[in-house]
Amino acid sequence: MELLTARFKFRGLRSTDRAAWIAGLEASQTLHQPWVPIPPPGLTLPARFAAQLAAHEAGTSYKGVAIAPDGRIAAWANLNDIVRSASWSANAGWSVHAAFAGKGVMTEVVMALLDVAFTPLPHGLGLHRVAAGIMPENAASLRVAEKAGFRREGYAVELVHIAGAWRDHVLFAKLAREHRAPVETT
Ligand SMILES: CC(C)(COP(=O)(O)OP(=O)(O)OC[C@H]1O[C@@H](n2cnc3c(N)ncnc32)[C@H](O)[C@@H]1OP(=O)(O)O)[C@@H](O)C(=O)NCCC(=O)NCCS
Repeated sequence: MELLTARFKFRGLRSTDRAAWIAGLEASQTLHQPWVPIPPPGLTLPARFAAQLAAHEAGTSYKGVAIAPDGRIAAWANLNDIVRSASWSANAGWSVHAAFAGKGVMTEVVMALLDVAFTPLPHGLGLHRVAAGIMPENAASLRVAEKAGFRREGYAVELVHIAGAWRDHVLFAKLAREHRAPVETT
């Protein structure tokens, strides 16, 4: 499933994305490092790309990328820990390329991610619920969740190890029935 947002093409990760994926993360390390779990230094970006692609292709995660007209990856938006049993749920994660920050990009792309999540099978993932956890100090990401229509559900103490310490997270979720109707697919 490929979606056209106002400014980007949003789709699942492909092997041909390797160079743009690595270049985008290299350019965005300073922006991302305080807020997202960064794997140990021994795990190189090429190795991380291979692991992400494998998870996407196995269907345990949906690793989405927003492709700008110039070919750069403007944002990453993922559905991790996909459960396809009684709950039909996943945990969302997102980050923007540093060169695209502060322009409304992430909200646009998270809405597309939710389109993928909630569009019924076989075109989308047919999920019922998408959750997201955000550090309480991450004002920009909290705002993205709010603008994308997530509901605050709770607060988890020391949920994720980020930038050298266990970090509290505000817990959000959105249900399929709370999301807009699917947009046009290609
Ligand atoms: C969080 C992040 C994804 C936001 O991306 P973005 O494309 O800049 O987000 P958007 O432009 O769609 O929306 C950001 C909103 O936060 C607001 N915002 C930004 N910085 C803020 C701050 N310090 N305090 C309050 N609000 C802030 C913006 O004004 C905007 O809201 P508005 O549209 O009402 O003006 C980006 O900063 C990022 O990649 N951060 C590092 C990784 C990360 O934190 N990922 C999420 C982990 S939960």
